[in-house]
Amino acid sequence: MSRNITIFDTTLRDGEQSPGCSMNKEEKLEIALQLERLGVDVIEAGFAISSKGDFESIELIAEKVRKPIICSLCRAVKEDIETAARSLEKAARKRIHTFIATSPIHMEFKLKMTPEQVLARAVEAVSYAKTFVEDVEFSCEDAGRSDKPFLVQVLTAVIKAGATTVNIPDTVGYQTPDEFGALIQYLMTHVPGIDKVAVSVHCHNDLGFATANSLSGVLNGASQIECTINGIGERAGNTALEEIVMAIRTREDILKCHTGIKTQEIMKSSRLVSNITGSTVQPNKAIVGANAFAHEAGIHQDGILKSRRTYEIMDAEMVGLKDTRLVLGKHSGRHAFSTRLTDLGFELSKEESNKAFERFKAMADHKKEISDKDLESIVADEVYHAPEVYALEYVQITAGNTTRPSACVQLVKDSVVIEATHTGAGPVDAIYQTIDTLIQEPIQLVDFVVHSVTGGTDALGEVTVRIQDNGRVFMGRGSDLDVLVASTKAYLAAVNKMLFFRSSVRVKP
Ligand code: KIV
Ligand code: ZN
Repeated sequence: MSRNITIFDTTLRDGEQSPGCSMNKEEKLEIALQLERLGVDVIEAGFAISSKGDFESIELIAEKVRKPIICSLCRAVKEDIETAARSLEKAARKRIHTFIATSPIHMEFKLKMTPEQVLARAVEAVSYAKTFVEDVEFSCEDAGRSDKPFLVQVLTAVIKAGATTVNIPDTVGYQTPDEFGALIQYLMTHVPGIDKVAVSVHCHNDLGFATANSLSGVLNGASQIECTINGIGERAGNTALEEIVMAIRTREDILKCHTGIKTQEIMKSSRLVSNITGSTVQPNKAIVGANAFAHEAGIHQDGILKSRRTYEIMDAEMVGLKDTRLVLGKHSGRHAFSTRLTDLGFELSKEESNKAFERFKAMADHKKEISDKDLESIVADEVYHAPEVYALEYVQITAGNTTRPSACVQLVKDSVVIEATHTGAGPVDAIYQTIDTLIQEPIQLVDFVVHSVTGGTDALGEVTVRIQDNGRVFMGRGSDLDVLVASTKAYLAAVNKMLFFRSSVRVKP
């Protein structure tokens, strides 16, 4: 018999913990609405106590996203649990997810608590969370490196205290598929009452086993998988939702389970997350990579033309890949433009759509055909950015093979225009040094990538910049027909994100 597997999406919480993937609340809502269309069962919307921004994002999502369960993460700490409960007040369906580490290394060095204290705290946390909501999930952080009999003790106790889901995370991605499956089986047979609750798996991808480990968990009795779109998450990331869902769909014959995911929404979800976070998907990534359904070798192309089944195990349409023949250019109207944006998965407000349309028209004056990638860039650039502390008014660069590059930049902050000029080793260096002079913040640039969004000399240049502040990385992206202007926009977008984050942060996990 085919079992239903609950898809618990943590793109907005664990996914957001990837370096450079911080999102603001409007961006998070946009993703949450797409996750609802995708049909996920649970959305982990954030870690309420960690920052004002996280708290407000969960509140907003709880209010606007009505179908899935909205989940708020908290440590096994009273104040965290109260904050999580408050963030969920407006939710139609709510879950509190509380966790504490159970591995010897975490208990001794991180928590500085004895196993007895951890056990007591876990029970206290679940009991307290139950006073706010019926649906309580408990996680043994670093379960993959925990002592099995201790896990049995903790899980038995939290189930008695009222946990409705128990989650077994391989927090550091250390387990191999057989080992992780055996762990789930051991717990299924040794924890009294475990058959009355949902058993969840949460696997990280440090050794590239996240998907395999999650499926191994399912084969051994788990009924919930925690995952993220494009597999984003701490370090090497989490289990990728699209991989899990398509593996289950394609190999239901051996996995004997199914999900409620509308697979046609997968590509839209992937693109949206990639555009908002700036975390690009590698071309050979399973399911959502640009090459996942492309065939290069002559023998393969020949086979595909004779029968797609020769080299394709899934239909591209099943994941929402469409043949897009509609060409957008300077004669295209608002309707064609907004239809294309909807097909790409963007749900924009009227004001956002107008802004994007203006930008599209300006680009179409210089460029014959506007591709999907151009559109994604326009939306990412115009719509998804942190509140502008500094807005770009003007940038002018002087460069050449006989002059030292210099830049003059004007920014607006709180309606006041500020201006500076600086030289640099190259034109980008000159721009960034000028901006540093203006904002007077010590900025550490960690990554600078330029690529042309489409081919040709009229291509739109897109620049992605990552800066670091107190160990946290902020990504900014800018696009323009002039790559130096794109570089300026990208740097300012990252700076604005950093300043916005600083103004809202409380504590991060
Ligand atoms: O990886 C992990 O252990 C987590 C927990 C908070 C569930 O993300
Ligand atoms: Zn995790």
